[in-house]
Amino acid sequence: MNILALSGSPRRASVNTAFLRAIAALAPPDMEVEVFDGIAQLPVFSPDLETQGRPAPVTDFADRIARCDGVIIACPEYVRGLPGGFKNGIDWLVSGEELITKPIALAHASHRGDDMLDALRLVLSTVSTRFSTELFLRIPVANVAPHDISAHLEPHRDEITAYLDTFATYCQDPAPQ
Ligand SMILES: Cc1cc2nc3c(=O)[nH]c(=O)nc-3n(C[C@H](O)[C@H](O)[C@H](O)COP(=O)(O)O)c2cc1C
Repeated sequence: MNILALSGSPRRASVNTAFLRAIAALAPPDMEVEVFDGIAQLPVFSPDLETQGRPAPVTDFADRIARCDGVIIACPEYVRGLPGGFKNGIDWLVSGEELITKPIALAHASHRGDDMLDALRLVLSTVSTRFSTELFLRIPVANVAPHDISAHLEPHRDEITAYLDTFATYCQDPAPQ
């Protein structure tokens, strides 16, 4: 099973990206978790650009989503909402097929950010029939340096592996018609 762990942060030293990498390292042997940290490489979406074919970074992003069995998203809150760059990435995919039946779950690295989570849940429920509103992992590590996050997740190892196992089962369920 191939899972794409999508970071909503455009930052190089991102807590969310490090959080996803640490989760990926705890995946079971039959699950490969690829972390995508390239959201800042996508050009600003306009329907005008779509008529000329997708730019290469968008094609790469869309292909990774199309190929995977499910997507886990970790995203920071910006100004009580979604970071513009992350919403831009979703906007690029709205006219495509990649997200429509893709299993998606959230992982959250902060004790804050609930306004962003509400907005993200609304967006994902709109673009995918298989966004799980129930499956949710929240481990507050927003104040931890990215290189220390792995160690901070160690006490949560069982919770994380249970989350990944449940998501794997969810990904294998037939999509609703
Ligand atoms: C432009 C900007 C706006 C932010 N707005 C909020 C906010 O509204 N609420 C909040 O809890 N944190 C806010 N933050 C803090 C980030 O969500 C927080 O630092 C997060 O851990 C950054 O994630 P990252 O390291 O993965 O980029 C903001 C940060 C930036 C740069």
